[in-house]
Amino acid sequence: MTIDPRLSDSSSAEPVTEDGVFLADVWDGLAAKPKVLSAKYFYDAAGSALFEQITALPEYYPTRTELRILDERGPDIAALLPKGAALVEFGSGSTAKLRRLLRHLPDLSAYIPVDVSGAFLTEQAETLRADLPDLTVEPVVADFTRPFTLPDSVRDRPLAGFFPGSTIGNFEPGEAARLLDVFGRILGPGATLVIGVDLVKDRAVLEAAYDDAAGVTAAFNLNLLRRIQRDLEADIDVESFRHRAFFNAEASRIEMHLVSRRAQTLRVAGRGFAFEEGESIHTENSYKYTLDGFRALAARAGWSPLEAWTDSDGLFSVHALRRDG
Ligand code: TRP
Repeated sequence: MTIDPRLSDSSSAEPVTEDGVFLADVWDGLAAKPKVLSAKYFYDAAGSALFEQITALPEYYPTRTELRILDERGPDIAALLPKGAALVEFGSGSTAKLRRLLRHLPDLSAYIPVDVSGAFLTEQAETLRADLPDLTVEPVVADFTRPFTLPDSVRDRPLAGFFPGSTIGNFEPGEAARLLDVFGRILGPGATLVIGVDLVKDRAVLEAAYDDAAGVTAAFNLNLLRRIQRDLEADIDVESFRHRAFFNAEASRIEMHLVSRRAQTLRVAGRGFAFEEGESIHTENSYKYTLDGFRALAARAGWSPLEAWTDSDGLFSVHALRRDG
């Protein structure tokens, strides 16, 4: 089974959601066995707002832990980047993480946020330019899962990449390796990549992070059905589904599902999809790595480990890698 990973970070809208493509994806996903829906459709306005709330939940440790590592290890990270480097961020979400890192990178010559949402990028670039007038900000509108060209003005500079949030974990491992190789082709030999990777840990801690007591992650997952109902003239009783998140230890991933509470038939734009009681739709994966497991994945994709930093509880990691060749 293939789950489409998110194409962009949290706050960007989904511009390729032309309703026809969305409908075709939903039809295909609900006709598949087991049923599946693409995680990239989570991020409409309501979904993006819910995701922002997730990042502040007490149970959701990744965001705050990664920020703390970037804060504490900023000087070490800075020491690994060449002077005058241009930093390419793949899928720029909120600028919070970047701003933490920038504090430690006074020698950075340019920042290139890459995102599929042009409107979001423009807005983000404007606020950054206003706050940091000395930094060249050159946004690129592109789907970072495919090779794209960097602006001419930065191609002769030493390049570094930034991919926070453990977004790499939302890709199947084979796809994650392919993506890291795409990053390497874009950045070129000798480039540095700073990447956030969530770590394998106690099941209870992991499962709470994706099924919080306040029900925000549940609302986020169920919002996918609301979006289908709204945008695709579907007849869905959203209450008849429940959120389920569990750690699949064999695959080393959190799985998110929407489980039908009863036998029913969903109608989406004239097509019916039968559900048994307890049948689920798989909506997202979040792979968890050990430090060595992630280093091995990176090595397969042409990246050598430079350093990796974790918090004192070993919850989350930030790796610095160097492109081979
Ligand atoms: N990459 C992060 C993670 O896997 C953020 C994320 C993506 C997420 N999809 C999610 C968080 C769904 C909660 C629910 O944790």
